[in-house]
This record gives sequence, structure tokens and C-alpha cells, in this order.
Amino acid sequence: MAEAVKNSAPDIAACRADFPALNRPDSPAYLDTAASAQKPRVVIDAMAQLMEGHYANIHRGLYAYSQKTTESFEAARARVAVFVGAPDPREIIFTRNATEAINLVAQSWAGTFLEDGDEIILTEMEHHANIVPWDLLRRKKNIVIRTIPVRDDGTLDLERFERMLTQKTKMVCLAHVSNALGTVNPVHDVIAIARDFYPDMKILIDGSQAVVHGAVDLAFMGADFYVFTGHKLYGPTGIGVLWGRYALLNEMPPYQGGGDMIDHVAFDYVTFKDAPARFEAGTPAIIEAIGLAAAIAYLETIGMETIAAHEADLLAYGMARLGDIEGLHFYGLAENKAGIISFTADWGHPSDIGMILDQCGVAVRTGHHCCQPLMARYGIDATVRASLGLYSDKGDIDALAQGLEKAQRMLKG
Ligand code: ALA
Repeated sequence: MAEAVKNSAPDIAACRADFPALNRPDSPAYLDTAASAQKPRVVIDAMAQLMEGHYANIHRGLYAYSQKTTESFEAARARVAVFVGAPDPREIIFTRNATEAINLVAQSWAGTFLEDGDEIILTEMEHHANIVPWDLLRRKKNIVIRTIPVRDDGTLDLERFERMLTQKTKMVCLAHVSNALGTVNPVHDVIAIARDFYPDMKILIDGSQAVVHGAVDLAFMGADFYVFTGHKLYGPTGIGVLWGRYALLNEMPPYQGGGDMIDHVAFDYVTFKDAPARFEAGTPAIIEAIGLAAAIAYLETIGMETIAAHEADLLAYGMARLGDIEGLHFYGLAENKAGIISFTADWGHPSDIGMILDQCGVAVRTGHHCCQPLMARYGIDATVRASLGLYSDKGDIDALAQGLEKAQRMLKG
């Protein structure tokens, strides 16, 4: 990575050396980055240095350790804001993960402002994290959930979306990039269609698989809420982000109550701070936020464009290499696609293939990828999914192809 810092054109191949888990004698060909990314040394070090250094709780102490940790934590928030092009760091709420961020919006914004009979539009390709929170809300309020269909190639049917909008539609929630198909959804078109129909339509975008694959500019995008998780962004688990427009966040009631989010507490009346504090009850994930900032600093050194170009090259290589293997069926053939290859085989079930690949030292995810409705759409119960990260290389793809050839020989009988 030192080389990448010095050169104007970083050598992304050298970055693999920055990931200890990929440099062990038993390291697999790790093709499950969409589930969770490996961590670079700088993230591990930043978290350890904090715990070995000026660590203390934040926002509560007048002593130097607390002040310093508070500064680092708020600097982490500011770095996240710049990374995603958020106009104001106060719009960045630290959550536990993307799932918690969606639950926050569902319970707080939608739980407050939606009325019986109002409609929310999702897509058929959503992760369960962007389905179940809306179902939980539907159990409390009589809202209607509708879904934009997915076409055979894994793209959204926007003509159907346009026809689906009604006077009752108040919110559209969709993945920026599908975790199961890799499709990069045309979020700008979706927002334009929705706002053309109803200028105050609320838009929530799940960017968990998007922020890792390329640059995101929230000021330009024009959504109302954007969520993502830290552990897929080469940062630690236990930290996620909700971005929301500042005025909107301050109209929303807190999602959880506790310390550090209040102005004043009495037994008969409580008042709350403005965002972000009102949504960060209790001691937050301090160490993890600082780890996430270290991950973002690392990614910025490489450049999101460099990462996107690398993954696009590798995706093309992978699709071609796997295309030579007989009996594979691919899901997600959109032109605009992130580094995710999802497939079934007519000679074996994904679980059996996954186990044989594991024996070959290849780590992939198999199953429904938390997208059961999408699997049902295609009439399958599972796929094998290989997902790429900045450290992936052709050797990983070759190992996958060789593992699949072995699985084919074993399972074909
Ligand atoms: N959402 C993660 C995945 O796609 C866990 O695997």
C-alpha cells in the first residue's frame, strides 16, 4: 500500500498484501466480499491504537482522553460525510449496521408520518433488510407494500414502476446495487420518476453494496435517506451509517431513548437534541467508527474509480472464465453490474457446490442471499455467489473455475 500512496496510478495488485487474513498459509480464494470484506492492516491498527492510546467514552468527559476520543469520533463522522458527498456531517448517523438504519427510518419517519392505506414501493430484488422492517411497520399500520418487478436480465422494470405510482404512494425504497445479482440500479431515474409524480416522495436507498464498488455523491443523487454498513466497506462490524437530509432528520422522533441524545430529562418530560445525537442513544460504537474512518482513508488512497475499474475488469474475466463451464446459468446480466457473479448449475445444488469449493480452498456464499422473494421470482431456492473485492485477482477466479470443474466431475456422477 505504501507504493499505492506514492504513485499517482496505484498498483491495486499490491493492495492484497495489506490484508492479513488473505496472507495466511490457509487463506482461501476469498470470493465472499459482498457478505463481509476482509480488513486491511490500517483498520486493525487504528482500532488497536485507540484502545492502547487515548481511549475514553465520548461527549461526556472534560478530561483530555475523552476530549481526544470525541475529536476522533467526530472526525470519523466528518470523513464519512465527505466520502459519500453528504453536505453536512450532522446528517451522518452512526448505527449498528444498514439493517438498523432502515429499521430506524421505518419506525421513526414512516411510523410517524405514514397513514393507513399509504403505499411503499420496494423492488423484487431487495435484501430482507429492506423488506422485513416494512413488514414490521405493516403490522402496526395498515400500509401497503408493492414491488417493482425484476426483468429476466436482473434489471428493474421502470415502466411498470411508473404505472404503479398512485396518490397513496409516499415512499420508494430500493437497493443501489443488488447483493444477489450485482445489478447497479438506475437510482437517478427512479428518483426522477418518483419525484415527477409526487415532488415530496421520500426515497430511501440501501447503498451497502454500492459504496464499496464506486464513488457515491449524495448531494447530487437527491435521495432522502441512504444507508450502508461498515463491514462490507473494509471496516469493522458493528458500525453502519444512516444519511438523511438534515431538516428531515430533525422532524423525526428518536428511534431509541437513552443517554447522550437528550437536552433535558425529568420524569414528566424529556426533550431531545437535534441530529445526529437524537438517533445515537447510549455509548455508540466508538472504536468501530474510528475503524470505519480508517477504512475510508485507505479506500480514498487507492481511489474508488481505481477500485471500480479493477472490479469491472475482473468481473469480465470471471464471466468469460465461468462461461466456458458447461451447465451454469447466470442471474444478473445487467450491463451496469458490480462485481457479483450469481449462478446455478444443472449438475448440482448450490449447497453441494459450495461445500466442494470450500474443500478446494474457495470461499463463496451459497443460498438465497437474504433475498427469498428474488429467488422465488426466478423459481429457484439458491444460487452460488462469487463476489469480488479490491484485493480479488485472476488467481481467485481461476481457483473458482477449477473448483467448479471438480464439483462438476464429482456431482455429475
Ligand atoms: N448482505 C450480505 C450478503 O449479501 C450478508 O451476503
